[in-house]
Amino acid sequence: MKQQHIPVLSNKVVEFLNPQTGKTYLDCTYGFGGHATKLKVQSAKCKVIGIDRDRDIGTSEDQIIRGNFGDLKDLVKEKVDGILFDLGVSSYQIDEPSRGFSIRFDAPLDMRMDKSQKLTAYDLIVKSDEEELGRIFKEYGEERFSKRIARKVKEKLPKTTFELKEIVEKAIPGWKKRESVARIFQALRIAVNDELENLKKGLAAAVPLLNPGGRIVVISYHSLEDRIVKWFFKEQEKDGILKILTKKPVRAEEEEQKENPRSRPAKLRAAEKL
Ligand SMILES: C[S@@+](CC[C@H](N)C(=O)[O-])C[C@H]1O[C@@H](n2cnc3c(N)ncnc32)[C@H](O)[C@@H]1O
Repeated sequence: MKQQHIPVLSNKVVEFLNPQTGKTYLDCTYGFGGHATKLKVQSAKCKVIGIDRDRDIGTSEDQIIRGNFGDLKDLVKEKVDGILFDLGVSSYQIDEPSRGFSIRFDAPLDMRMDKSQKLTAYDLIVKSDEEELGRIFKEYGEERFSKRIARKVKEKLPKTTFELKEIVEKAIPGWKKRESVARIFQALRIAVNDELENLKKGLAAAVPLLNPGGRIVVISYHSLEDRIVKWFFKEQEKDGILKILTKKPVRAEEEEQKENPRSRPAKLRAAEKL
């Protein structure tokens, strides 16, 4: 089933990767192929290799490697001319109630991008002690009431998204409760999928795959990811391996932000292999 997913900053992705006949591009976050399709529209005879860790996405016509880009070193051996990371979850994952990613639907606390993985968000809550859970909420959610929320979550061990939402709302004072709930959901999702560690490993493995002149484009959706990308590119530039093409991250124009709310927090960074 093809899901509606409008690719974010797709014009910029096409502009930076500039797909050409006979060249090969690696889309490390294939999703429903929104960006990959744009690359093919621009240059029908380029080759796109897709990777995604979610087994529910893609269609039977798509050639996708099912895997984690954190294992990129083992997944792809051929050299490529451009690489894309469009991080985070897809609108399909968010909009599918059973996946447990969304605050909007009551569902088991799952949040696994790869359903063959054992650890769910509920398992993580059960297995982490209060201190560890507080650290997850603080580091990955940047939540100031992290300790207080962790205490309540460990007391009640929520099994569903709505139970968790209620616990967070009751644990904290004030009226900015919705933001806190969103931050706690984000933190759990990052921890369950080990997103930041995978990003570091994926970026490190991506650069050696690039041919000279090839480009790497990364779209991130929160500051924790963007910081990793920014520093990684800086280090690589210092070592004479990459040249940064975006002094400041590229943001979606107002019109795109209006049409596609997912694009609002997006930051795109691009660099070229020397
Ligand atoms: C924002 S969506 C990509 C959407 C895609 N660019 C499109 O236009 O259809 C992110 C996708 O990356 C996948 N993903 C996230 N982390 C991953 C990882 N570590 N390894 C492989 N795929 C990952 C998710 O399963 C999701 O399908």
